[in-house]
Amino acid sequence: MSVKLLKDIEDVLAEVNNAIPEDLREELSDIMDNLRGNMNKIEENGSRASSIVKGILLCSRGKDNEYIPANLQQLTHEYVWLSYHAVRANNKSFNVTITEKYADDVPLLRIIPQDLSRVVVNLMNNACYAVFTKAKEASETPYAPAITVGLKRAGDSAELTIEDNGCGIPDEAKEHLFTPFFTTKPVGEGTGLGLSISKSIIEGKHNGTLVMETKANEFTRFTVSLPIEK
Ligand SMILES: Nc1ncnc2c1ncn2[C@@H]1O[C@H](COP(=O)(O)OP(=O)(O)OP(=O)(O)O)[C@@H](O)[C@H]1O
Ligand SMILES: [Mg+2]
Repeated sequence: MSVKLLKDIEDVLAEVNNAIPEDLREELSDIMDNLRGNMNKIEENGSRASSIVKGILLCSRGKDNEYIPANLQQLTHEYVWLSYHAVRANNKSFNVTITEKYADDVPLLRIIPQDLSRVVVNLMNNACYAVFTKAKEASETPYAPAITVGLKRAGDSAELTIEDNGCGIPDEAKEHLFTPFFTTKPVGEGTGLGLSISKSIIEGKHNGTLVMETKANEFTRFTVSLPIEK
C-alpha cells in the first residue's frame, strides 16, 4: 500500500514539474522539495493512522467478549509461535531461541481468550523486536537471542512471564511504557498501543496485574498475574 502511494506521489510531482515552464523550474525547486517532503509526511501519517484504527478495531470487537474457562498454557503456546512466525515472515534473518516452561498446576482460568491472545502477541512482538534490535547492533560480541516464556501458579494467581535478553528499556522510557501511543519504533513499525491495550485487558477486564522489570542491554521481563477463582 505505502509503496504504491509513494510511487503516486512521484508521479504527481513529475506532472507538476512538467507543468512548470522550464525557465522557472530551478527557481521553484525549493518549493518542489518542500512539497515532496510534505506529501511523504501525509502518506506516513496516513498509514500510521490506519494501523492505529486497525488496532483499536481489533481490540473492541464485541461479539467475542465472553469470559470462558480456558487453558492458558495452550493459548500461550499457540500465540507465542504465531507471533514468532509472523515476525520471521517479515524478517528472514530473524532468529531466536524460544524456551517454554509451563508448570502443570495452573487450572483453567475464566478469561476472554481473544483478549489474552492479544496480550501474548503484543508481549512476544515486543520481545522479538528487542532481541532483533540487539542482534543487529551487537555485531562484534557473540549474541544468542533468547526468549523465555513461563507459566506457573503463585498462590492464588497464575503467573505468565515473557522474558527476553534484548536491548532492555532505558530509565527515561520506563514511566511512559503503558501510555497510549508511546513508542520508540520508527513510523510504520509501532503505534505505541501494544502495552497500553495489554494493561487495560489484564488490569481492567481480568482483575490482574501487568508488571515490567528490565535491565538496559540485558533483559526485559513482563509478568501477567491473573487471579485463580476458588
Ligand atoms: N521487551 C521489550 N524490550 C525493550 N523495549 C520494549 C519492550 N517492550 C516494550 N518496549 C518499549 O516500549 C515501547 C512501547 O511498547 P508498545 O508495545 O506499547 O508499543 P510499540 O511496540 O512501540 O508499538 P505497537 O505495540 O503498537 O506495535 C516500545 O516502543 C519499546 O520502546
Ligand atoms: Mg508493541
